[in-house]
This record gives sequence, C-alpha cells and structure tokens, in this order.
Amino acid sequence: MTKNIFTTKAANKLRGAIRVASDKSISHRAIIFSAIANGITNIYNLLTGTDVLATIEVFRKLGVKIEQQNNDFKIYGVGKHGLGITNVKLENFNFDLGNSGTAMRLLAGMLAGQNFNSILIGDESLTKRPMLRVTEPLQQMGAQIVASKNGAPPLQIKGGAKLQGIEYQMPVASAQVKSSLLLAGLYADGQTTVIEPAPTRDHTERMLQSFAYPILQQGNSVSLNSTNSLQAVENLPIPADISSAAFFMVAATIAADAELTLLEVGINPTRIGIIEILRLMGANIELKNMRFFGQEPVADIYVSSSKLKGINIPLHLVPLAIDEFPVIFVAASVADGVTVLTGAEELTVKESNRITVMADGLRTLGVELYPTDDGIKIIGVKKLNGGKVFAHGDHRIAMAFSVAGIVAQQSIIIDDCANVVTSFPNFLTLAQQIGMQIA
Ligand code: S3P
Repeated sequence: MTKNIFTTKAANKLRGAIRVASDKSISHRAIIFSAIANGITNIYNLLTGTDVLATIEVFRKLGVKIEQQNNDFKIYGVGKHGLGITNVKLENFNFDLGNSGTAMRLLAGMLAGQNFNSILIGDESLTKRPMLRVTEPLQQMGAQIVASKNGAPPLQIKGGAKLQGIEYQMPVASAQVKSSLLLAGLYADGQTTVIEPAPTRDHTERMLQSFAYPILQQGNSVSLNSTNSLQAVENLPIPADISSAAFFMVAATIAADAELTLLEVGINPTRIGIIEILRLMGANIELKNMRFFGQEPVADIYVSSSKLKGINIPLHLVPLAIDEFPVIFVAASVADGVTVLTGAEELTVKESNRITVMADGLRTLGVELYPTDDGIKIIGVKKLNGGKVFAHGDHRIAMAFSVAGIVAQQSIIIDDCANVVTSFPNFLTLAQQIGMQIA
C-alpha cells in the first residue's frame, strides 16, 4: 500500500552513501526511443516510478515486447513504422498516462505521426494541465490533434495525418514541447526546427544521438528530418535523478551534522541549476568521479552541513532548476536573510501550483513569505514550527516538506503524499536509512 500521510520529527545527524531513484526524464525517453528503434535495447536501472510505468504500458499496448528483470528492461524495438501494427483491428487506442505530463506531451508528438487513432487521458492533476502548448504547434505541422475545451486533456489524435516539418519558436522554455515536436518531426516531411527562448533539458537531443539519429544543433535551435532510422543501443544505463537527489542535497545542507554522498547522479549542464543555486546560498557541494553514462555526464555528489544565506535567484538558472523549487523554498526558509525568485510562472502549471501550495505550507510552519504570479519572496527564519501541511497529490511538494521536517521543532504531518511513487518509489526507505526521522 502506498503511504499517503508522512509524519516527520527533527533530525541532527545524517550519514550515508545512497543512490536515489533513476532519472525520470531520461527513463521516459529511453523507452520511447528503444521502442521505435531497430533492434534490441537493454536499459539498465530504469526508473520504475508510476509515471514511467505509464509510458511502458503505452508501448506494450502498441505491440512492443518489453521484458523486465528488477530495474533492467529489454526492449524489442519495432522500428519507426512498426507501432500498433499487430493490433490493426483496433480503431482507437486509449492510453491512461496517470500523473505524467512528460508522457502525455512527448507521446502526443509521436502518436500524431502514426496511422491509428489515440486518446490520451490522465488523473485529476494531469487533466488540469495546459496542453495547447503542444497541440497548437502539432496542428501547424498538420497533426489532427485536439485537446478538450479548456485546452487540457483528454487529447484526441486522429491517425493518418500527413505531417510537415515547421520552424517553431517556442513561447515558453519547455523541454516537453521541444521533445514533442522533435518526435513528430521523426514522421514529418522536410525539416523540423525548434527554437527555444532559454536552454531547457536536452535529454532528447542526447538520446537521439545515442540511437545514431542525426540532429543539427545551432545555438538555441535544434533540427531534424524524418529520413533516418534509430539504431538500438546495446547498453543504456540511466543515471540517478538530480531532481530526486535535490531533496537530499538540501537535507544534508540544512541538517546540523550531515555528510552524504549521492551516487551516480546525472549532472547534465541543463539540469544543474539546483547545485548552482545552493552553492550561491553557501552550500558545500562537491562533485566526484565525473564520468559518462552514454551521452549523459554523471558524478557522485558529496554534501555536508553548511550555513545558508538568502539570494536573488539568477533568471538564467530558473529553467535549469524548474523541478527543484519546492525544496529550494525549504532551503530559503531557513537561510539567513531574504531569497527572491522571479520569472518562474511555469511553477503554477506543474503537478500542482507549486508557488501557492508551498507558500500555504511554509506559512503554516511559521515562515514569512510573499508569493507572486511568477515567484516568491521568502524571509528566512532560524527554526521551523511543526503543523499539518498538504502536498495536493504533488510528489515534489510531499518530499520538500519531508526535508523541512529535519529542522522543524515539532512534527510536520504531510497529507496527500501517495504520488511520491510517480518519481521516487523508495524515498521513505532511503530517507530513514540516512537518519531522517520520517514515517
Ligand atoms: C520534463 C521537462 C520539464 C519538467 C518535467 C520533465 C521533461 O517540464 O518540469 O518534470 O522530461 O522534458 P517543461 O518542459 O514543461 O518545463
């Protein structure tokens, strides 16, 4: 049974060397590209969070053979044009993507290029999330895709559309939109080019290269065309997720007596905003054993206790730390002085509205703060109070308040935590293992 309520107690001493859950973004892409590659790909240490399981289910329904041994997966690629052909009698495929925005947006692009119809649905949270950011450019490419009236899921996709490559200047910095259009571009006539307003995670580009698919990267644009095929990767290891490691980086930083090593963490330059922001605040973070897993850089990250100070978070770091702000807000709450975040309106359309949900909970814990439409101002306090807070079904909110519990004078009771399984199924076990008092 998934635990829905977490209860914390303060903790001083944290010790250990742990490997957090594997990278969610890279795991989704590993499955997608393996499934449409020619040949067999062996993925090692895939994330088995429910978001990624939803993506796996899609390809199983589409006739892709996928074998699992613990966290290792063997995927029998069917080639770019092999999806769904064993089920041709089915007129519509229905895919339930649960809580996963990444699965819905990326797969929308890929499914727009297929010969069969698809309907994509999700849970209550996903059903509120904006989808026009992918449906509109996909329609410009000729896709037959519609969202529901409010621009949210379900998405209905008609198969057999003839896609045409476009040059698309993205209005928001979004790796999901970029990846969705590149996936559609694998099925489009001519060249597909995506231009981003600021750098976002580039796992799609790196993984296309791993699968020997030519792409052209120039400044802030990336282009491909559909004339090539993807070649299976014999050995595809997935790094640990820096977004999951972030909770323990902040935990070790704010605990009074902590020394933690986080093993095999992906340190892709488009994801290391958390390290840069914590270092600017005064955290002690060292990267060791730097190496590559395929195209992705990896390191062991050593973190120990340090005194934090408030900062103005540099704008260019916002997209590079977009999933880490809930736990950065916790760090800011116990830092000396004031922390100001701006330019982060995307936080309002994540699994929850992460600005208002974190502001509500931190206020309960005694923090003075001022939320805005695109960020927050947080005045640091010495110690947090306890109290009851709500994660609103958002995995990262639940884990952020778990970390806050380390420095709270009374217990924090965190409600609605079950979705931690979407990205970090063994979070509680690892937290207890290093000395956090949480159950
Ligand atoms: C993701 C991109 C980010 C991130 C999400 C995963 C991805 O979203 O918040 O958790 O795997 O491409 P946006 O691209 O919408 O910013």
